[in-house]
Amino acid sequence: MNELHATAKALVAEGKGILAADESSGTIAKRFAAIGVESTEESRRAYRDLLFTTPGAEQFISGVILFDETIRQRSADGTPFPGLLASHGVIPGIKVDRGAKPLALSEGETVTDGLDGLRERFAEYRSLGARFAKWRATYSIGGGRPSEYCVWVNAHALARYAALAQEAGLVPIVEPEVLMDGSHSIEESALATGRAQQALYTELHDQRVDFRGTILKPNMVLSGYDASGRAGIDEVADRTLEVLYRHVPAAVPGICFLSGGQSDEDATAHLNAMVQRGPHPWELSFSYGRALQAPSQHAWLGRTENVEAAQHAYYHRAKMNGAARAGAYAAALESVPD
Ligand code: 13P
Repeated sequence: MNELHATAKALVAEGKGILAADESSGTIAKRFAAIGVESTEESRRAYRDLLFTTPGAEQFISGVILFDETIRQRSADGTPFPGLLASHGVIPGIKVDRGAKPLALSEGETVTDGLDGLRERFAEYRSLGARFAKWRATYSIGGGRPSEYCVWVNAHALARYAALAQEAGLVPIVEPEVLMDGSHSIEESALATGRAQQALYTELHDQRVDFRGTILKPNMVLSGYDASGRAGIDEVADRTLEVLYRHVPAAVPGICFLSGGQSDEDATAHLNAMVQRGPHPWELSFSYGRALQAPSQHAWLGRTENVEAAQHAYYHRAKMNGAARAGAYAAALESVPD
């Protein structure tokens, strides 16, 4: 098997998923502000260190997505983070996009930046130990959005990134995220999600990307967060699967959902319900940021004496999502001591 196929398969190994710890400096500052912690290079390093040194997390975590600053940082004992992760059998990854920027001539829409110089950046990231990468595009719903223009320019950029990643020997995670802010219905969410995925797979195909060496990181199909009568777990699972079956080629080895602002337990329960409806052509897994880290951040509060409690909170969420990977999660497991 070639290296890309092997890495992609390893990222969706049985019982495991991905930790998205690739918050940009702005995003992590927001998360830290919510717990009263000042965001400095050292506080960000210390926080990521506690996650990456959590004993036993590697039972449930196959890979970690890092930010540019983090891939260059070290654990307290001086070990570079990528080497630390690899020593636990966890695959280091890197976020390479430079964020969603206003899309020219299209009010309220964005296109993701970061293609300039990307070939050279990939070469450096590979030498730093990264074996997979992530690029996120965002789309909002409402007022005629997302436009065809927005859907296609983002798909084109995602595919350009994916081809460069594969050329450099890194597995591209392609992340078309339809945002769930707003009062839209679950039907609108399904439609927008399907359009984004359809354009993405057209561009990936046309740009010669090898699907077997990729991972899809999609949103789940939810009712808008401000909608009334929001869809429950079973409907979310059915609608999300319907879209995926329509648009995602069977050659794609794995689909690792983002959590996108859902509650921790909803993100776990939704994944669990989808796995239970299997078998599916692809592995269904997680690549959560907030839904894996929120309890840990609230336990930590920036204090050394809370590190153990924070690690336990992270371990617990990783374990719950590991159970969901097999369709073996139940809310009752939340209170069973780890
Ligand atoms: P969330 O799970 O917090 O949505 O983050 C995942 C991610 O990597 C977004 O790009």
